[in-house]
Amino acid sequence: LNVPVPRSFSYVKRNIPEVTVEQRERALKATHYNEFAFPAGMLTVDMLSDSGTTAMTDQQWSAMFLGDEAYGRNKGYYVLLDAMRDCFERGDNQKKIINLVRTDCQDIEKMMNEMYLCEYEGGLFNGGAAQLERPNAFLMPQGRAAESILFEIVRKILAAREPGKVFTIPSNGHFDTTEGNIKQMGSVPRNLYNRELLYEIPKGGRYDKNPFKGDMDINKLQKLIDAVGVENIPMIYTTVTNNTICGQAVSMKSIRETAKIAHKYEIPFMLDAARWAENCYFIKMNEEGYRNKSIAEIAKEMFSYCDGFTASLKKDGHANMGGILAFRDKGYFWKKFSDFNEDGTVKTDVGILLKVKQISSYGNDSYGSMSGRDIMALAAGLYECCNFNYLQERVEQCNYLAEGFYKAGVKGVVLPAGGHGVYINMDEFFDGKRGHESFAGEGFSLELIRRYGIRVSELGDYSMEYDLKTPEQKAEVVNVVRFAINRSVYSQEHLDYVIAAVKALYEDRENIPNMRIVSGHNLPMRHFHAFLEP
Ligand code: F0G
Repeated sequence: LNVPVPRSFSYVKRNIPEVTVEQRERALKATHYNEFAFPAGMLTVDMLSDSGTTAMTDQQWSAMFLGDEAYGRNKGYYVLLDAMRDCFERGDNQKKIINLVRTDCQDIEKMMNEMYLCEYEGGLFNGGAAQLERPNAFLMPQGRAAESILFEIVRKILAAREPGKVFTIPSNGHFDTTEGNIKQMGSVPRNLYNRELLYEIPKGGRYDKNPFKGDMDINKLQKLIDAVGVENIPMIYTTVTNNTICGQAVSMKSIRETAKIAHKYEIPFMLDAARWAENCYFIKMNEEGYRNKSIAEIAKEMFSYCDGFTASLKKDGHANMGGILAFRDKGYFWKKFSDFNEDGTVKTDVGILLKVKQISSYGNDSYGSMSGRDIMALAAGLYECCNFNYLQERVEQCNYLAEGFYKAGVKGVVLPAGGHGVYINMDEFFDGKRGHESFAGEGFSLELIRRYGIRVSELGDYSMEYDLKTPEQKAEVVNVVRFAINRSVYSQEHLDYVIAAVKALYEDRENIPNMRIVSGHNLPMRHFHAFLEP
């Protein structure tokens, strides 16, 4: 048959209300045209974010029953760390059932050896008993909690060593919260993706197929290091997939090369691993040498290059909440930010500082503001994300939507689609007529809500704060809106409705208003809180 074979179905149903344009207009006015404040219950299709909006699987719902709500070292803590070791470090997603059932294991000797007191020397998760002496894995409620703790502690350490100095943190593309956290530590975020790769198109034509448009531009990275000096770059980030840069995938080659440069200068190499599984899927399908490897095997190699990572597991944890901050035992991150005595013994372990900060903000390391049941759902969700059929179905949905826009004649669609959404370049959509401070992309998003009850997210000039950036940073902004595909939620009917709506809006683009920021202009992450006006 010439159609995709269905790979999942759902038993839970939610009805969508009928809402008029006038009602949505009233709600937009009342919420000061702030998309994030628009009531979800009045929307027809909500594509604002793929974060935490996942429909969990039956396996996850049942895993929740096994969670326990102990204050210290609940079962889920061990199961989750083990799931992370399986998916990120052992390249083995076969043990899931055993691990989940093991939480009720009566063989205490076995549990002590394999889970409770295990050490994972050299890895990202030393887990169990070792977490007390050398903490290096911190559960978090979500990704930005991991970022804020990381950057707050790094800021303190650097300020104590060299007061008043400004640091630069390069990435292939920082997410807006990562940028916000870096700015709040007084440092400069830089996005060194390869602009030529992204825009290798004849104007108005189809984007050529390059499967790894999210890669770090290695030449730019080297130039930046030479220009600002190794000593002013406390860490180098790579975001997989590259959400800010149209959700594009990052090749293993790029990750390997970035790690090599970072390590040449003894700079810690960090991953923002929110969409680790989708990135592994793209590597499997499009990079030579990976076709026969499992998603978990590819993840194992990918994580082997980093010295630490932050991750929102509300994405590729297939869960509604969860995050993690972890660093490699005695890797470059640990070496750079710990203090040592003259004889080489550790004076202050950075892990302890992070742990104290975590306890004061999110509770202890074995729950990080999550309930025991949510931790179990997340553990099961990590294994779900290793499922090739699930990933394929998801990426095909993104592709269906992107191709649908393209075939409908909408200009500026980024092809190929990323793994979690579809992006439309607003400069092209508006035929280059609107300029950078019109915030027409936000106008597009609000008009899509007003006319059709579809919410998407602007990730361009407005949210990425084009007008507040330096000339170098301005050149790094990609002026896009994103149609996020929620995990395991949509049917083709949802996507066809969205395609028809965007086609209609494109044909009437002249009448889409520009937006003016009425308040909250200069505060970080303004799209979450600012008031707007057409
Ligand atoms: N890093 C990336 C790459 C992200 O996409 C996000 C969140 C975060 C970090 C922060 O994680 O939301 O759990 O605190 N992205 C969502 C989005 C909000 O819609 O793309 P969080």
